[in-house]
Amino acid sequence: MYTRVRDLLALGKKNNACILAFDCADVNMIRSVCYGAQKARKPVIMMLHPTATLKNVLPFSVFAHTAKYFANQVDVPVGLHLDHCSDFDEICRAIHDGFDSVMADGSILPFEENVAFTSKVVEVAKNFDVDVEGELGHVGTAAESDEYSKKEMFTKPSEVTEFTARTGVTSLAVSFGSAHGLYKYPPKLDIDHLKELQAATDTPLVLHGGTGIDDDQLKAAFANGINKINIGTEFYMLNTRLNKEFYAQEDFVPYTYPDYIVPVLTDYIARRLELCTVTL
Ligand code: 13P
Repeated sequence: MYTRVRDLLALGKKNNACILAFDCADVNMIRSVCYGAQKARKPVIMMLHPTATLKNVLPFSVFAHTAKYFANQVDVPVGLHLDHCSDFDEICRAIHDGFDSVMADGSILPFEENVAFTSKVVEVAKNFDVDVEGELGHVGTAAESDEYSKKEMFTKPSEVTEFTARTGVTSLAVSFGSAHGLYKYPPKLDIDHLKELQAATDTPLVLHGGTGIDDDQLKAAFANGINKINIGTEFYMLNTRLNKEFYAQEDFVPYTYPDYIVPVLTDYIARRLELCTVTL
């Protein structure tokens, strides 16, 4: 059933648990997140990365309506969220088109500019009762650098209290050793650093770059304040592999591709959701 992200994060916080959030790029992925959650009997969040809209893969309103439609086909809570967006107008368009939870990513900006950008989004979002995830410290891209292991890149605990208080974000993405995409070498989350971040705020914290972090580290992060984790690359890669396999068959019947792809994606989601300790 379609559920607000704020309610899912509250559920995570209450249970000292983490809600898994998956980036989706097509209808099969959206369906699979819902069916996988149903199979695992766990809450989940579907996310759209704005690049998919800019590249005309799925316009905001099509994604939002499709996501809500499939969320309401299952009886476990499923939320909808706009992933990384640094463009104010784009965020407004997403809100207009049905997203009730958005990310305002000002993480590459200097602190004061990040506060100003994020506050501006929160101000608009509040008028429409929309949740906003901010980012402080920068979670970069693993392929571009190995800086994810460098403490200088981590979110500064001393800035967290001020940032959350001044912006009014409903969740906060933080940096303590992860990066987006495929890691060059295994990441090592700095759980002691995370503990300091958690002590600095009551706002639910978000871990980005979920692909490639081993389960033991994830469990430690979830036990120390991470209430939402974003997973993209590994889900995209599995979807790509299944599409390739389907179309490589000699005699494929075009419109049967969901029957080939959705069950495997659904199993993947259900398996990943074993990490969520929320009991419904
Ligand atoms: P990965 O692609 O590394 O799983 O990260 C996803 C993410 O954090 C999206 O915001």
